[in-house]
Amino acid sequence: MTQPIIQLSGLDKYYGNFQALSQINLDIKTGEFFSLLGPSGCGKTTLLRAIAGFEVISAGSLHIDGASMEDVPANQRPTNMVFQSYAIFPHMSVSENVAYGLKARRLPKAEIEKRVAEAISMVGLDGFGDRASHGLSGGQRQRVALARALVLKPRVLLLDEPLSALDKKLREQMQSELRQLQRAVGITFVLVTHDQEEALTMSDRIAVMFDGEIAQVASPQELYGKPTNRQVANFIGQMNFLDAKVMGVDGDKVLVDVQSLGKLTLDLHQATGGIEGCNVVGVRPEMLTILDGSQAAEREIEAEVCEVFYYGDMTYYEVILPFTEAKITITMRNTAGRKVLGEGETARVGWSQSSLLLLK
Ligand SMILES: Nc1ncnc2c1ncn2[C@@H]1O[C@H](COP(=O)(O)OP(=O)(O)OP(=O)(O)O)[C@@H](O)[C@H]1O
Ligand SMILES: [Mg+2]
Repeated sequence: MTQPIIQLSGLDKYYGNFQALSQINLDIKTGEFFSLLGPSGCGKTTLLRAIAGFEVISAGSLHIDGASMEDVPANQRPTNMVFQSYAIFPHMSVSENVAYGLKARRLPKAEIEKRVAEAISMVGLDGFGDRASHGLSGGQRQRVALARALVLKPRVLLLDEPLSALDKKLREQMQSELRQLQRAVGITFVLVTHDQEEALTMSDRIAVMFDGEIAQVASPQELYGKPTNRQVANFIGQMNFLDAKVMGVDGDKVLVDVQSLGKLTLDLHQATGGIEGCNVVGVRPEMLTILDGSQAAEREIEAEVCEVFYYGDMTYYEVILPFTEAKITITMRNTAGRKVLGEGETARVGWSQSSLLLLK
């Protein structure tokens, strides 16, 4: 296996007495699109700034390309950072903005011009080189900021919520462009975001952070399908939880007593974060089915429909299972001929044992 481009080990960061990062251990692979995902204040920016060299770490080690970054200042690290508030120079043209870092490096004029033109083209701003930066839209400015970082050919590009200031439509377009750009240039991208959809759709792997700690590192599919605890499960998409009591473990099987569903035998690997301390069963809303007509499922249970949210293509149901007050959510695609149930109706809810996760 090739050496990871970024290696963090036992990394702590304190601001005075406040611990912003705690025991961060993380390897980021060369050429990877890696995201740091977590709620506001969990330490994403702090971690990114530590990698960039804008923050001095309090303990642990940080290696980039196998070299310790201790005593290596930000401007000598093989990284470059793109900020949330596109910090471009308003009094300079697009080309001048992009050329800025190269001029500071005193490269020959012809090479600067060639690389600037390449970078401007890369971010889809052909023909904008002479435009004044102050007249650009938010999306265009963010492209300039990207070009300005890419033109320096860093080994790692660090992006702190680069798209959060853009409206939804433009953000989605830029997400797909950024992903394609990353594939084309092959530079390792580390993206900070608090938007789980953004992280899921763009990343090769994601680190989920809470309170200065990394809770899980996994591919988008693994993170969604096999979150290792309730907090991650709840942050990535939506998850229904039912109280559960582990009655015993026998080989690779677990006997659990689950609220409303009764006594079940699950596979031990359904306890994705280990069996220790498990006290809840999680199931995604799309893993439950409201059975139509003569439709059958592996298991079924009756429930009362208490709220219905109709979205055209989908219907979100909130139902109450027997023996509990807790509402659970079921999402159904409105396929041809499917009846939409109303509030107060009784639904037959189909489910399968294999779609349950045992969590703590
Ligand atoms: N210079 C600083 N001095 C003191 N505390 C700080 C400093 N910078 C960050 N913090 C604190 O460290 C914690 C993590 O901050 P950070 O900016 O890394 O969060 P974040 O995950 O990027 O959040 P957001 O999504 O809101 O940008 C916060 O509680 C913040 O108040
Ligand atoms: Mg931040």
